[in-house]
Amino acid sequence: DASDIEKGTYPHYMLKEIDEQPAVIRKIVQTYQDEQGSLTIDKDILQAMNDADRIYIIAAGTSYHAGLVGKQFIEKMAKIPVEVHISSEFGYNMPLLSEKPLFIFISQSGETADSRAVLVEIKELGYKALTITNVPGSTLSREADYTLLLHAGPEIAVASTKAYTAQLAVLAILAEVTAKSRGFDSNYDLVQELGIVANAMDVLCGEKEEFEAIAREFLSTTRNCFFIGRGIDFYVGLEGALKLKEISYIQAEGFAGGELKHGTIALIENGTPVVALATQESVNLSIRGNVKEVVARGANPCIISMKGLETEEDRFVIPEVYGLLTPLISVIPLQLISYYAALHRECDVDKPRNLAKSVTVE
Ligand code: G6P
Repeated sequence: DASDIEKGTYPHYMLKEIDEQPAVIRKIVQTYQDEQGSLTIDKDILQAMNDADRIYIIAAGTSYHAGLVGKQFIEKMAKIPVEVHISSEFGYNMPLLSEKPLFIFISQSGETADSRAVLVEIKELGYKALTITNVPGSTLSREADYTLLLHAGPEIAVASTKAYTAQLAVLAILAEVTAKSRGFDSNYDLVQELGIVANAMDVLCGEKEEFEAIAREFLSTTRNCFFIGRGIDFYVGLEGALKLKEISYIQAEGFAGGELKHGTIALIENGTPVVALATQESVNLSIRGNVKEVVARGANPCIISMKGLETEEDRFVIPEVYGLLTPLISVIPLQLISYYAALHRECDVDKPRNLAKSVTVE
């Protein structure tokens, strides 16, 4: 309950929760380690992962965006095919299921009615479900076969921040431990890499003036804003756009860089802010090509890149982390930019209009 959780010196829960992210990641790593320091997942869950010929991730809102990144983790590390579905769509638009599906429900609250409706339906069909949630004993946790907890502590602000990065960390651990159990050896140590992520988060949370300045420069009067990226940067852009619309009411959309030319570029006018994420080496040149295309039409570009891939035109460079894990830190500038945009526009950051923390009606 919000009244039990102190904001301390923070003006808003959202800012406090953004700042808690490094500690949450460290807590997750610690909690999912065994006595020898190796990452570990309940053996029944591992068995269910290994029995599955395909994984169906079901979620809504920010948790859906975490699912999109989670698919990359599970497919790239554990090599199990994954589909990600919006819960409210899945019920009446169910895809043709594989022979041995495993369902993963991602839900901060564990109470989202749209997701629960799918859980009830797939349990009736006799399938197994794993819930990844922040709330032990929540409905989705109780009704699923297995649960993995986020250990993020209560999230009060309506706009989800620390739960998203916690979801990514738990999904990465699930993917990595499953990969090991399937005999796929990685050339990196996830415990160490998540430690590097937590340190990078500390650095970013220490750069607030920079994000306040970006928000002032790009977003204080704009009507709209676009987020572009390719691959996992695209998924983070979707989450950045959601954060911005939720709390600042700026019309914001995330797009895949290559898809711009098929329509969206028509919306670019003089001064339209375009936030471009460039954290992936394999698409660095092509996303920068997209930035040139929008700049040629008058866009005001804000490029956020990663150390090692940066150029002089970049507005902000995030510290380097392991490539697949970049969403855990590239989202932080977007969270903070949204926060300051909402502040500058005098919006109610923690309780935006028309939204609820958990939506328990379908
Ligand atoms: C609501 C919240 C969002 C959240 C979504 C899913 O719409 O406002 O912030 O992402 O529900 O919530 P869940 O608890 O299932 O992750």
